[in-house]
Amino acid sequence: MNLQLDDRNFLVTAASRGLGFGVAKVLVGENANVIICGRNEKSLQDATDSLGGKCQYFVADVSNSADVTALLDFTKEQTTKLDGLFVNAGGPPPGTFNEISDDDWVKAFNLTLMSAIRLTREAMPLLKKSDAPSILYSTSISVKQPIANLLLSNSLRPAVIGMMRTLSEEIGPEGIRINAVCPGYIYTKRVEQLLTDSKARGASADEEIIARIPLGRMGRPDEFGSVCAFLLSPIASYVHGALLLVDGGMFKGMM
Ligand SMILES: NC(=O)c1ccc[n+]([C@@H]2O[C@H](COP(=O)([O-])OP(=O)(O)OC[C@H]3O[C@@H](n4cnc5c(N)ncnc54)[C@H](OP(=O)(O)O)[C@@H]3O)[C@@H](O)[C@H]2O)c1
Repeated sequence: MNLQLDDRNFLVTAASRGLGFGVAKVLVGENANVIICGRNEKSLQDATDSLGGKCQYFVADVSNSADVTALLDFTKEQTTKLDGLFVNAGGPPPGTFNEISDDDWVKAFNLTLMSAIRLTREAMPLLKKSDAPSILYSTSISVKQPIANLLLSNSLRPAVIGMMRTLSEEIGPEGIRINAVCPGYIYTKRVEQLLTDSKARGASADEEIIARIPLGRMGRPDEFGSVCAFLLSPIASYVHGALLLVDGGMFKGMM
């Protein structure tokens, strides 16, 4: 199947490594032009170098309103239209109800929900210039079932889904598609760190996690990237307002 991404323009946030990088890599592999962002310039430079001439970077913290505006200003300097926006950010810190302060809640609100709102708002004029515009939010399996010790993620990621579903009604008539993906366990630096931490505490989190995944393994960033590239592409022209799990069958609910 030809995804028809040749020379289309995408903005992929939080993408110097991990899930975002996986998406950028697949898009560039399909000959799309991609702008990535992250907070660390050296990591972005390395990521961009590894992806070749179709990728550019901009240093931006997506939890910061001024950085989001600057990122979109940069994007407008590079391109007259955006065909797709992939919204990703770092994860909010773990913790239980009694451990999380008001300040933690506000920071996580800016990181997880406000980043999605601001990126969507700022990218909209460029998306409207495309003949096949698409927005894709990366959330988590936590929007389907809460994950222990991840109160901030469990609380704020469903709000992104609420916004996505509402916006699907508002912007669908303008031909702008909007969807969300919910990764289960995709093996990235962040997951590697979580597993190392759990081993240091004497637990074997990797075996316990894999036992819950019917496919018997964690996913790879390129597998996640391929699903996202499809959803962002004109080939997914009738997928709108959808929530797609990319979890190897880990979620056990019926719907
Ligand atoms: N991997 C999984 O299985 C999984 C499952 C469910 C949900 N998630 C969520 O998906 C997101 C990405 O996870 P990952 O596994 O890809 O993590 P990762 O390997 O640690 O990569 C995170 C990427 O995001 C960038 N980043 C972090 N905070 C940022 C910010 N405020 N503004 C801009 N860029 C930022 C990082 O670069 P800098 O540090 O240089 O900014 C890096 O490029 C997280 O929210 C995570 O909670 C992951």
